[in-house]
Amino acid sequence: MKAIAVVPGKPGSIHLREVPKPSLDQVPNGRGVLVKVLNVGVDGTDKEINAAEYGAPPPGDDYLIIGHEGFGQVEAVGPAVSEVAPGDYVVATVRRPGSSIYDLIGTNDMTTDDTYFERGINLHHGFLSEYYVDDAEFIVKIPKGLKRVGVLLEPTTVVEKGIAQAYEIQRRLRVWRPRRAAVMGAGTVGLLATLVLRLRGLAVTTFGLTPKPYLNSDLIEAIGARYESTRDVPIPEGAKRHGPFDLIFEATGFSPIVFESMCALAKNGVLVLSSVTGGNRTVEVPADKINLEFVLGNKVMVGTVNANREYFELGVRDLAQAEAEYPGWLDRLLTHPVRGLSNYAELLEKLTKAEGAIKVYCQVNGESTSLSSFAGSR
Ligand code: BGC
Ligand code: ZN
Repeated sequence: MKAIAVVPGKPGSIHLREVPKPSLDQVPNGRGVLVKVLNVGVDGTDKEINAAEYGAPPPGDDYLIIGHEGFGQVEAVGPAVSEVAPGDYVVATVRRPGSSIYDLIGTNDMTTDDTYFERGINLHHGFLSEYYVDDAEFIVKIPKGLKRVGVLLEPTTVVEKGIAQAYEIQRRLRVWRPRRAAVMGAGTVGLLATLVLRLRGLAVTTFGLTPKPYLNSDLIEAIGARYESTRDVPIPEGAKRHGPFDLIFEATGFSPIVFESMCALAKNGVLVLSSVTGGNRTVEVPADKINLEFVLGNKVMVGTVNANREYFELGVRDLAQAEAEYPGWLDRLLTHPVRGLSNYAELLEKLTKAEGAIKVYCQVNGESTSLSSFAGSR
């Protein structure tokens, strides 16, 4: 079968290759699920992997099949699988267990191991291929009604985990009643964070660089959130007008914003950090002031990465609620479909250069779910 792969360590090595089709018996105890891949999203991590800044091949291979935002349909299951059946739509989680105690209790997203295993990223092949096989343990069923937008589940889970963790932490307050939230960044993750917080009933202000109006600011306003461009309203000013914020979700990819966010947090507030910043940027910050306000205001800051099964299941419920509450909104995020694995160059080109791209994704088996083809049928 065909797959899109890179040679880790070699910049710009993305290519199409022929690889063996996986089979059910690769998974022990009859727990295998063979999935026909339909749509796979790409993001900054894939960009970094192709730039050889990130990623490692599975032991014994010198290539890595990329793609960690998968969506597909079950083709066959092993004899001990009852959770899904052929024909079901599914998404697989990304991280696989290591050996820390967190891995042993099914929370691999909280691993303390230095080496972690992630499909399409580190030491395991990903989903940009015609088929993949995995243990039913890591396969999450997607209701038919979400099949057009199922490819958005993985990025949604990153947001779900961060927000669920924030609420979990805030149980320390016994009566936490968050009302105002801010999202830093209006990219795919920022948009999904805005959505999830709106579904929780919060008043949300989302900060982005680009002056409005543009698609992302329209999408934010369409679900009753506020968009502020930091070119017009810098974060400190925005916090004065619309804050202070009980919950802030940082998703800009630009670490200096973290310190501005710390200053925009309300007393007893929680700041969630989700940007993976591989560089070595330094900034000068008002350390005494930030520290004092954190101490006197009992504030919390927490980092979050990846997501386990629990957050995938939560994500499915939120995508369904989003479809019920804001019909068609999720479809509008699917801005840049690319047809077929053989168009990997176009996939990368759109990922790195397309203007106004929110989600670039590959329609692996040609089933069209793009907005344009779907709009006529609504
Ligand atoms: C993925 C996460 C992963 C993280 C770090 C992100 O792009 O969505 O699942 O844990 O990269 O590798
Ligand atoms: Zn990702």
